[in-house]
Amino acid sequence: MTMNNLTTVFLFSLLSVFALVSAFPIRRDVWDPEILSPNSSTVWVIGQTYNVTWNTSDHPVNITNKIGKVVLATNYIQNYEHPLASNFSVLDGTVAITVPDVEPGSDYSIVLMGDSGNYSPNFTITSA
Ligand SMILES: *[C@@H]1O[C@H](CO)[C@@H](O)[C@H](O)[C@H]1NC(C)=O
Ligand SMILES: *[C@@H]1O[C@H](CO)[C@@H](O)[C@H](O)[C@H]1NC(C)=O
Ligand SMILES: *[C@@H]1O[C@H](CO)[C@@H](O)[C@H](O)[C@H]1NC(C)=O
Ligand SMILES: *[C@@H]1O[C@H](CO)[C@@H](O)[C@H](O)[C@H]1NC(C)=O
Ligand SMILES: *[C@@H]1O[C@H](CO)[C@@H](O)[C@H](O)[C@H]1NC(C)=O
Ligand SMILES: *[C@@H]1O[C@H](CO)[C@@H](O)[C@H](O)[C@H]1NC(C)=O
Repeated sequence: MTMNNLTTVFLFSLLSVFALVSAFPIRRDVWDPEILSPNSSTVWVIGQTYNVTWNTSDHPVNITNKIGKVVLATNYIQNYEHPLASNFSVLDGTVAITVPDVEPGSDYSIVLMGDSGNYSPNFTITSA
């Protein structure tokens, strides 16, 4: 093959890849709902039950993963083993959780998982 032919073959393959990609677009309806509560002014008391709430008004028509999970995190370290809530619909906009017996502190956040993980602002957990 001459250099020109090689270039043609290469360009053709490249075009085919583009054609394939545009024929089968990958739909990414990844949605990061805004967490309304807890927020930076929230104080949770250990053992009490609270609603985690988030804004569902801008959700896309098709959501990749509707099954939600709420995990407690400290300094971006997530407590995956003991989720606060799981197996609810992210379209609900709210889920009740009971505050676990953790070290009181002001650098807690929650992660709302569905399509992706979304951190709340830092908030405070105090003992009863
Ligand atoms: C912050 O969270 C509290 C409950 O912890 C809630 O009452 C309040 O409305 C929230 N603030 C905003 C701006 O959503
Ligand atoms: C939590 O949400 C439920 C409805 O999902 C409501 O009945 C209940 O009053 C809420 N609790 C608080 C503390 O806001
Ligand atoms: C929810 O999101 C919508 C659209 O982004 C916005 O207009 C509305 O103010 C939000 N609601 C709250 C309570 O933040
Ligand atoms: C949502 O999914 C349905 C069924 O898979 C499809 O017909 C529709 O076009 C999708 N809508 C959007 C906005 O992606
Ligand atoms: C999740 O919830 C659905 C219905 O709400 C139920 O059918 C299913 O068994 C639950 N799965 C788990 C693992 O709890
Ligand atoms: C929460 O606090 C930690 C330090 O304790 C900090 O690294 C992190 O950036 C804070 N997160 C937010 C969302 O403000």
